[in-house]
Amino acid sequence: ATANIGVIGLAAMGSNLARNLAHHGNTVALFNRHYSRTEKLMNEHGAEGNFVPAETLEEFAASLKRPRTAIIMVKAGAPTDATIAQLEEVFEPGDIIVDGGNSFFKDTIKREKEVRAKGFHFVGCGVSGGEEGALNGPSLMPGGTVESWKTLGPILESIAAKVNGEPCVTHIGTDGAGHFVKMVHNGIEYADMQVIGEAYDILRRGLGMDAEEIGDVFEEWNKGDLDSYLIEITAQILHHKDAETGKPFVDMVVDHAGMKGTGTWTVQTGLEFGSPVAAIGEAVFARALSSHGELREDAQKEGLAGPNKTIDLAGEDEAAFVDDVRKALFASKVVAYAQGLNEIQDGAKEYGWDINLSEVARIWRGGCIIRAQFLLDRITEAFKGDNPPASLLFDPYFEKIIGESQDAWRRVIVRAVEAGIPTPVFSSSLAYYDGLRSKRLPTALTQSQRDLFGAHTYGRVDKPGVFHTLWAEEGKPEIEA
Ligand code: 6PG
Repeated sequence: ATANIGVIGLAAMGSNLARNLAHHGNTVALFNRHYSRTEKLMNEHGAEGNFVPAETLEEFAASLKRPRTAIIMVKAGAPTDATIAQLEEVFEPGDIIVDGGNSFFKDTIKREKEVRAKGFHFVGCGVSGGEEGALNGPSLMPGGTVESWKTLGPILESIAAKVNGEPCVTHIGTDGAGHFVKMVHNGIEYADMQVIGEAYDILRRGLGMDAEEIGDVFEEWNKGDLDSYLIEITAQILHHKDAETGKPFVDMVVDHAGMKGTGTWTVQTGLEFGSPVAAIGEAVFARALSSHGELREDAQKEGLAGPNKTIDLAGEDEAAFVDDVRKALFASKVVAYAQGLNEIQDGAKEYGWDINLSEVARIWRGGCIIRAQFLLDRITEAFKGDNPPASLLFDPYFEKIIGESQDAWRRVIVRAVEAGIPTPVFSSSLAYYDGLRSKRLPTALTQSQRDLFGAHTYGRVDKPGVFHTLWAEEGKPEIEA
């Protein structure tokens, strides 16, 4: 046996990951259900490093040094389960099975338990960065046992993206912790993409700027604290002209956003924990609304009343307003991060994981879709040490910048509302921020209503205990419940 790592499933992600492994001095065993794919990889890229192609899983297992370590890169769900079952037949106790797909973390928890009972290690590993990242350096979020990390860690470190020489990988926590954090990463990705969309819409519809001009604005923003992969590709897309018509590419694309489920999982899980990931939720719902094509066509036919006009700047300078939009985008994005990071803390509590948020932010600085070195450097700093803030919004740097941005943030939302341009995540993030800082919330009234119609009880501000008012009785006496 010569290989120190194996890859099963050689579609785009799997073959790129295998090549990345080989480029970094690993000897990589290869297996694919149909051998033709393995042959294709060998023909096209076999000379790039040390590969050991296998026609059968038995051969694959025999080519791996112990403890055998194999990364499964097949579709989430049934194909993943089938591959695990087949590997269990040819592997021996102590060997490590890694699932590098976008699996739901609860499936990973279940699989880890079952696989561990048979004596193997099972590691659910979040892989972010798409095909390009898989080849040139992804951000990696592995869960599983500490013991498996000892073998797997150096291998993953060899292929991960590097920021200032540090690999974008860390042992996130046990069993499903890695896939859980990858899920929240994707939720934040949805919110990040949506706030970029809202800023674009305000500039396009609201100010009447063309795609090219907005591309220039995003290019400019990418030089400041918004510097990120998603802003960079946005500028690139807005500068791109459709080859056939010469029109802005973005104008030729149907405005129905797809989604494969990870954003929805983030919100569903947030709901389970009672974790208010409202900005991420609004981002998922914004995609959902966009995809209701017939309903939207009906609304057009119906001619629903409302403004359809450009923004009235009320004397404000246009360049100054564009900068307000930048501040609104940044503030909303920080709130989405704050919510996602709090959900990770809630998950850690719920599942007994010891997750270091500073480390999570550190490994998101490079390789992944939400990579943004400046912002994530700051978040890494914010959560360093033994006394991390309860919210990202309490970190002095973010407190200051949001304090300074909020007049702009509010102005942008007001102007957009007046012009009839929806800003679900801008608005929801601000509502979260204002809710968080409110000393008293109207939920005192909610509690009163619940007690009146359902005897659900309430607490009092002036003394401890649980109370219920006998609403139907004379004088409405209060009793201790
Ligand atoms: C990543 C991406 C990746 C994928 C998403 C897209 O981190 O590399 O998040 O996992 O592109 O699944 O998700 P939607 O299809 O739901 O937008």
